[in-house]
Amino acid sequence: MNKLKFLVINGPNLNMLGIREPSIYGNFTYPMLCDFIQEKAETMKIETSFFQSNHEGDIIDKIHEAYQKFDGIVINPGAFTHYSYAILDALKAVAIPTAEVHISDVNEREEFRKISVVRPACCVTVSGRGYDGYIEAIAELAKKIIN
Ligand code: DQA
Repeated sequence: MNKLKFLVINGPNLNMLGIREPSIYGNFTYPMLCDFIQEKAETMKIETSFFQSNHEGDIIDKIHEAYQKFDGIVINPGAFTHYSYAILDALKAVAIPTAEVHISDVNEREEFRKISVVRPACCVTVSGRGYDGYIEAIAELAKKIIN
């Protein structure tokens, strides 16, 4: 079987990892996070591509471009999680199996973080597992795609 190809999307402020609230988001920089994910995904025979943007429209364009190019999307939409119906619609439009990931436990923080408007387009959600959450999401997503 061909290698699965996953697109890993990180939304606003995730380029600030390592600087941004380390007690919540840890000490990895964004490039360190990408290397970590790529290395672990490789051991699962999954090819990963990475995209980060602070702009909603750019994230939407990237999701559209993924149509028929990727087998899965792993997305940490950052704060867009809580209000971007446009990202929800983009994910529904391409209908690529998608995992939602949050480094922090969004259910244990402010009220507004408990709401995810993108969740209805996702078949996997991982929250509060730190950087390992991306790996868990990739593994779960691959299992769903293969089975
Ligand atoms: C986040 C949680 C969001 O509420 C927040 O806006 C982020 C990061 C996380 O990874 O824990 O930017 O998605």
